[in-house]
Formats: sequence, C-alpha cells, structure tokens
Amino acid sequence: MQRACGKAILLGEHAVVHGVPALVVGLDRGVEAVALPAPSASESTLSINHDLVATSAQDHDLALAFRALLAEAAPPSPVQVQVASALPVGAGVGSSAALGVAIARALAEAFALPPSLDRDLAHALSWERIFHGNPSGIDTAAAACGGCLLYTRGSPAEPLRLRSPLSLAIAYSGYGSSTRTMVESVARQKERRPAVFAKQLDAIRSLVSNARLALEAGDLVGLGKLMDLNQMILAGWMLSTGEIEQLCALAREAGALGAKLTGAGGGGCVVALCDGDPGPILGAWRGGGFTCFASTVSSLRRGFAPWHRAMLAGKKIFLRIAVRKNVQERPCSARQREAAAA
Ligand code: PMV
Repeated sequence: MQRACGKAILLGEHAVVHGVPALVVGLDRGVEAVALPAPSASESTLSINHDLVATSAQDHDLALAFRALLAEAAPPSPVQVQVASALPVGAGVGSSAALGVAIARALAEAFALPPSLDRDLAHALSWERIFHGNPSGIDTAAAACGGCLLYTRGSPAEPLRLRSPLSLAIAYSGYGSSTRTMVESVARQKERRPAVFAKQLDAIRSLVSNARLALEAGDLVGLGKLMDLNQMILAGWMLSTGEIEQLCALAREAGALGAKLTGAGGGGCVVALCDGDPGPILGAWRGGGFTCFASTVSSLRRGFAPWHRAMLAGKKIFLRIAVRKNVQERPCSARQREAAAA
C-alpha cells in the first residue's frame, strides 16, 4: 500500500509556473494505492474508490494519464491498480498529483523496485501533464513529500521547519475548474502586458519570501496578512469567483488570520489560516452552505487517517466532499469567461 497526500498552496500559485517560488503544504488527507498483477494477457486497469475508471486501452483523460504513467514506469506485466481517495477532483487540493504519485509508488512496490523520489516524481509528472499541460511540479512535490515546502520550478523542494503545527481550514466553493484553462488564461495576461505581469510576479516573490520568514518565526498573524495580499493579486488575474470571495470574507469574519483561493482558482477551494481552533471558520462556512474540512500541518509528514483502510475495505464513509470521476466545470464569472476567450 502506497500513499500520497493532498496539498494546499499557501502562497504563490500560478506565479510558480513562471519561476517564482511558492509555499505549499501537504494535507493529512490524500490517496492510497495498491498495484497487483493483472490476470495474464489482460490490459492494465485503474479503479478509484471501487469504481473501474480507466483501462490502458481507453482514450479519456484519466486513461491517457494512466497510459502515460505506465509508459514511463514500464511495468513488466499488466497491472490492476486500486486507489482510495478522499480528495475532491479539480478543486485545487492536488487530487490528480496525489493519484499520480500514489500510483507511481504502488507500481514500484508491486515490482519490488527500491524507493526513489526522483523516479516517482518523474512518473507522476507524466500523468499530471495530461491534465495540466504545463505543470510546475509543485503538486507532485507536495503529494510525495508532505510537510511544508518552499518549491521553485526545476529545483528540489526545500522542506521548511515550522515553529508549531499550522491549523488550516479548507472549503470547497461548489464547483471545480480546469487547471489547464486557468494557467493558459494567466499566460495570456503575461503576453498582453509583460511589464505589469513582471511587477506582479515580483510582488508575489516578495510576499512568498516574507511568508517563509513569518512561517519560520511562528508569526501567524503576519503570514495571514501575506495570504490576503496574495489573494488580491490572484483576484487581479481574474482567478477569483463570487463564491471564493464569499468564503474568504466568511473566514475572516470568523477569525481567520488570512484566507485565499488555493490552486488554480476559477472555482475549487479556499484555504484559511486559523488562529488555533478551526471550528468557528468551519461553522461559518457550513452555515453558508459550503462543504469544508480542517487540516493540521506539521514540519514532518503526518500519517493518514484510518478512513483510508475503511474505504479500501469497502465500507461506506460519508465524505461531504466526494471524489467524482468528472470535473464538474461551471462557467466562471463573466470577467473570467471574457479573459479565457480573449
Ligand atoms: O491543479 P491545481 O488547482 O492544484 O493548481 C496547481 C497550481 C498552479 O500553480 C495553478 C499550476 C502549477 O502547475 O503550478
């Protein structure tokens, strides 16, 4: 059984695609996978939460990603991969990267390969490219390593030492988005106004560098303010939505030290930094009709909760944020639709 965790980007999403460092944390919920030899001469199959979702011969995105990973991993015989996941799809919490990493690790385990972070990251990235086009690699790094990382594209992730565990609350805005579409829309803004874009990247670079100092000093109030400032730049890139703004406002009113979208935006999730107990923030979100959960982040990767084992054993577990096979994409705001079409 192999694991990978979900992730939340505290600061620096999108800018990380353009070479700016970002801060990311592993979540204490994620994905577990096991690979078993398939009956001889049959094709490889992938099941998620007991549903057969792809075979290596199909042509939808999950199957293409599965095939890309298998092509890299080159298992000596067909495999049956079984996955249990508690991460919402297309929501910015690293579901696809966690799947890619867990499957890569499960394949290595099935064929008794020695552990190799670089190999697993490379295999998972081939899976990610199908969904993301131009992934920075931040999601796969967080999925594989957990903890709290400073990530710069093309460099190994740098684990950060936290003064105390971080208490986060994460809410789902109600619909997902396509990371590829959102990343492309930001790239178009870069093309249109390169000088302005460069200044925005510089601003995020300094937010991230100050956030790193705040994290290491245990200055959570400072960290929260920096997250709020990052949200303003992300909103300027038309990545926010009415629901995201509502979630951020509800969180701040309920005592969050900072709140912002996490991941690609255009839907997906909001991450709030809690001043200890996440209860009031979760309560405010649930009162607004949103689904949410809390997560505690330590410097070192934490184990996964027992629900993973229960899910694999076929027990029904009530997950308000359920894994879905297809990303439910809803048109973004009028501004975002215009930006995407431009
Ligand atoms: O796929 P998501 O929503 O978790 O977003 C990943 C973070 C981005 O910076 C938007 C893309 C990337 O590859 O870094």
